[in-house]
Amino acid sequence: METNGEFLYLCDLTDLPEIKGKKYTIDDEEIAVFKIKENVYALSNVCPHQHKAIICDGFLEDNLVVCPAHGWKFRLEDGKQPGNRNGLRSHFVKIRNNKVYIKLAKSKLNW
Ligand code: FES
Repeated sequence: METNGEFLYLCDLTDLPEIKGKKYTIDDEEIAVFKIKENVYALSNVCPHQHKAIICDGFLEDNLVVCPAHGWKFRLEDGKQPGNRNGLRSHFVKIRNNKVYIKLAKSKLNW
């Protein structure tokens, strides 16, 4: 697998749809990836509310992704819920030469 330092190659920037999520799986971990203009965000795909793997199908609202099941909202930048409550695990993303690399965040959030 191609790497960039500790980061693993995920996809080309052009593989990501604009303003819509896409699901990837790395090391058995489902990741919801969103591209908005030049920015790419990678969050856990599993909503902590009912542990459904559906965040990639969420709606985007300003800087938030809204779970399509019951509307819980999470910030794209860090996965937290408004009010800084725990939310989704947020992974590190790096873009080099139009390629997207990812480094999985290690710690899981406690619920
Ligand atoms: S499963 Fe996401 S808000 Fe209920």
